[in-house]
Amino acid sequence: MKKLSLFQTTIGKKLLMALTGILFCFFLLVHLLNNLTLFLGPDSFNALVSSLEYIKPLIRVLEVLLLIILVTHIYNAFFLSYKSKSSRPSGYSSQIKDSSTISSKTMLISGVTILLFLVVHLGTFWRIFQSVDDHSIYYDIVTKNNIVGFGNPLIAVLYMAASIFIGMHLKHGFESSFKTFGISNVRTKNIINKVAILFWFVVPFGFFVISAWFGIIKGLL
Ligand code: HEM
Repeated sequence: MKKLSLFQTTIGKKLLMALTGILFCFFLLVHLLNNLTLFLGPDSFNALVSSLEYIKPLIRVLEVLLLIILVTHIYNAFFLSYKSKSSRPSGYSSQIKDSSTISSKTMLISGVTILLFLVVHLGTFWRIFQSVDDHSIYYDIVTKNNIVGFGNPLIAVLYMAASIFIGMHLKHGFESSFKTFGISNVRTKNIINKVAILFWFVVPFGFFVISAWFGIIKGLL
């Protein structure tokens, strides 16, 4: 029988999903910290974005790595979901509604929603930022543009909804990786749970607050 490499096995693929998920979480943390400079005003945000120009080659490498991380995560998600569906005895799902099936369905729905958001986000903010030469307008594009930016309340609502989906997706993700890796030691679980809150609650909440503040609240004041 042909010997499988670790990443061809189910546990290996789950490991890869957890690893790529965590790496993307770190990107989101850094991305949030960058975007929080919006609260410091146009000069700070524009200066930060302009300063990234100096390390453009590094940014490009990181973007390619991020793409590989994302594609690996998504490919394995669909592979595992297909495999678990095809290995389930027929009629099983109608007899027993087990919680893991419901949870993985939720993960797939929130995952696809986040992916759609990402397509819109990269097709607007990221694409526009690549072609702008005037470094004094980055802040205005994000906070005031009334088509793709938070000057359009619908865009703000889209970002707020995406933040909620990201929070849900990450919460389930952390919970299911605890099960996959059999973390049962109470002390270890408590520590990881606390760190996980930073990723599944604090970070998405930060994105939610930015969109709500610039897209909705500021306009009402
Ligand atoms: C308040 C919410 C957000 C704002 C204001 C924001 C803003 C931006 C901007 C301005 C860029 C272009 C940066 C550049 O090219 O220099 C960007 C890129 C990007 N954003 Fe966001 N973003 C937000 C939320 C998110 C979320 C929730 C995700 C992930 C689900 C995300 C993923 C990305 C990715 C993958 C890139 C391309 C990589 C990069 O150039 O950094 N963003 N974002």
